[in-house]
Amino acid sequence: MYYLIFALLALLFIKMLILIAPFVPVHSKDLDRIAFFVEKYQIKNLADLGSGNARVIKFLANKFPDKYFTGLELAPTLFLYSKFRLNKINNAKVKWGNVYFFDWTNYDGLFMFWRPQYFRRNIEKILMKVRQGQYIISYAFEIIELKSKEIEVSKAEKSLPIFIYRI
Ligand SMILES: C[S@@+](CC[C@H](N)C(=O)[O-])C[C@H]1O[C@@H](n2cnc3c(N)ncnc32)[C@H](O)[C@@H]1O
Repeated sequence: MYYLIFALLALLFIKMLILIAPFVPVHSKDLDRIAFFVEKYQIKNLADLGSGNARVIKFLANKFPDKYFTGLELAPTLFLYSKFRLNKINNAKVKWGNVYFFDWTNYDGLFMFWRPQYFRRNIEKILMKVRQGQYIISYAFEIIELKSKEIEVSKAEKSLPIFIYRI
């Protein structure tokens, strides 16, 4: 019986070690474009929902020492790597877990790099987590379900678009 439980836990752990969703980081050349919006909309406290290797929050934390950045990441390997990477940075941290296990209302900005299919499938759940006045910065993909909340789109040659929404 114990062997079975152990085998099941081991399987679960191995599954978690494999990335839950494809990990593709933001292009480095777009980090300044993201920072531009953090400054423009005076976002003081931003969460990267699915923060990957913490590239975005590390960059923003270094650029804005007076603002605070949190990464929420499910993949244990990426979480551990991010923890190490943010070790000496005081205004950024990463938390391990499913984004839905966390309260999103504490942040005035949310950064997302999620595929449209994901928004389509989860929009009701997402809408229950956000609060009025929050900014959403969506990298690469438009959130059609939030079209009425769209305030700006940034397009640059040979770069991916960035969509800004205000809830
Ligand atoms: C496309 S990557 C974006 C990484 C980072 N935000 C960036 O822009 O460089 C998506 C990340 O979300 C993570 N992820 C997917 N589903 C998640 C969930 N339910 N909770 C937390 N993280 C999740 C994946 O492990 C992956 O690292």
